[in-house]
Amino acid sequence: MNSWFRGAGLGLFVHWGHASTRGWELSWQLTGGVRHQEPAMEPVGCEEYFANAAAFNPTRFDPAVWADLAWRAGARYVVFTAKHHDGFAMFDTRLSDYSITKHTAFGRDITAEVVEAFRDRGFRIGLYFSIVDWYHPDYPRYSDATVRKPYVVGEHPRGTAEQWARYRGFMLGQLDELLTGYGQLDIVWLDGEFEYTPREWRFDEIRELIRSRQPDCLVNDRCLGHGDFATPEQQLPVVAPDRPWETCMTMNSFWGHVPSDQSWKSPGELIRTQVETVSMGGNLLLNVGPTGDGELPVQAVERLEAMASWRARMGESVDGVLPGLELWQFHGPSTRRPLPDGGERLYLHLVMRPYEQVVVRGLKVARIRSVRLLGEDHVLQWTATPHLKDVHAGSADPAGDLRVKLSGARLDEWCSVIAVELAPEEAE
Ligand code: GLC
Repeated sequence: MNSWFRGAGLGLFVHWGHASTRGWELSWQLTGGVRHQEPAMEPVGCEEYFANAAAFNPTRFDPAVWADLAWRAGARYVVFTAKHHDGFAMFDTRLSDYSITKHTAFGRDITAEVVEAFRDRGFRIGLYFSIVDWYHPDYPRYSDATVRKPYVVGEHPRGTAEQWARYRGFMLGQLDELLTGYGQLDIVWLDGEFEYTPREWRFDEIRELIRSRQPDCLVNDRCLGHGDFATPEQQLPVVAPDRPWETCMTMNSFWGHVPSDQSWKSPGELIRTQVETVSMGGNLLLNVGPTGDGELPVQAVERLEAMASWRARMGESVDGVLPGLELWQFHGPSTRRPLPDGGERLYLHLVMRPYEQVVVRGLKVARIRSVRLLGEDHVLQWTATPHLKDVHAGSADPAGDLRVKLSGARLDEWCSVIAVELAPEEAE
């Protein structure tokens, strides 16, 4: 496992395609969404949807602007939709004419430009690639007559064995193009595994292709049985998975640019979600859906700017840190950073407004060196009380309770952080 991924903290997911010109959700607009699943969508005719690709002309596209903002917000890797379920290649493929380079007046390899701009800014690079393709004739292509609207998992058109063999060859061929044409990839983010069985997909072969072309590249767990990291979607896992993981999440309800959707999460909620994710040892892959013109929506910009501002003051509490205390010790997310002298700094994140004080239990209280509010100058008042049982046992390094006074302290609008510095354990 490539160690950069654990502790990366924040990634930027970009869901973009020709559907964004119409304010349609990527791919799912043509199925009218998924039965029993939010958000609901008005279906668009399949052929109308597919034909819209020709009109894609994002003249205001400048990925360096996205990369710069995302970097300041703290993202250190990007995952870009090179191809979504609708089959439209946002890259220059030799295997189909249904692509940004051959099917539009725009004609530029958008994936190549995104990869280059983000790589130049220092990002690790991930490509999202849908293994299902609702446009390909052998998949077989979705039509209004064959697809259930709203979509029902397991009830989609299926072709013959010959078609499937041809389709699989095509899919592997396009994946190979991405693996060989865009420099070093750090993540291949597969999606759409739910439409055929693992036996039909032969994920071992897909994984082997990726490994042979890009030995250090990670693959998400939708490459069933062969994933390097778990991908809970839209929610934090209840318990942290026992392997590397990343939660992908939208800022409003849709993945693509759907301007009618005003259900934006507040900047504070996004910041606190990032904090919670990192405190559980995972990464947050936060999604943006650029407009059909190629710009980030103002709401997304505002949120990334807020994250950048929070990070300028509190970044050390989420960058390259480890999960902190147990929840019985501190009732909120916390992280910790080992210090060069063997001590450590704990970061306690106040995701709710405290009453007059914050209590931390079971700390080695004789080792507390300082307690302060990150990003603020004034010192906090605190008291530490060793547990009586440790006192009675004559312990030189007792566990105890820390009480931090907060009345009068200036709390952050989004998420204050208390930094507690602990000295190393004394050598016996
Ligand atoms: C879901 C959606 C898909 C999106 C993906 C991102 O699978 O169906 O549209 O790309 O989540 O995780």
